[in-house]
Amino acid sequence: MKKMSRREVLIRGTGLGMGLIGVMLSVPAVGFLLSPLFTKQKLTWITVGPIDEVPVNQPTAMIAEVPVGTGYPTPPVKRIVYVVKKRDGPTLALSNICTHMQCDVHWDPSLGNFLCPCHGGLYDIDGNNTGGPPPQPLAQWVHRTHTDAQGRTILEIQNQLDEHI
Ligand code: FES
Repeated sequence: MKKMSRREVLIRGTGLGMGLIGVMLSVPAVGFLLSPLFTKQKLTWITVGPIDEVPVNQPTAMIAEVPVGTGYPTPPVKRIVYVVKKRDGPTLALSNICTHMQCDVHWDPSLGNFLCPCHGGLYDIDGNNTGGPPPQPLAQWVHRTHTDAQGRTILEIQNQLDEHI
């Protein structure tokens, strides 16, 4: 085996040291880039607005600005919340995202159903899938209501969808 010269040892040692420094410097950067994948989304309540004018048994689309849970400073995304007030029973806050392939559904009064334009999926007023390919009911936003100082009923949602209730 050939004996290395002092010069070769120094060159190899320097190269190894530089490589170690490079690896050590890249660890925080890689951690920063990957951290959103492992960071749990921060939950927050978002005011959708007053729902006193929403007619009973007539799903009504309202807009909510929902923060995106990527961990990066990104602007909130506008989401449609279908408010369904029932004569008896709880107020629903349904997602408008079809459970088949995520197209936007809309309430069609002539059908008395939510209609998905992509493949003709149907959901009843409670969000239950009633026709076409959707495999599940519409999801529902985690939500709550409170009465404000003017006596209005205010709907708030959380930035997460729940299983259909
Ligand atoms: S995406 Fe809605 S029915 Fe296919």
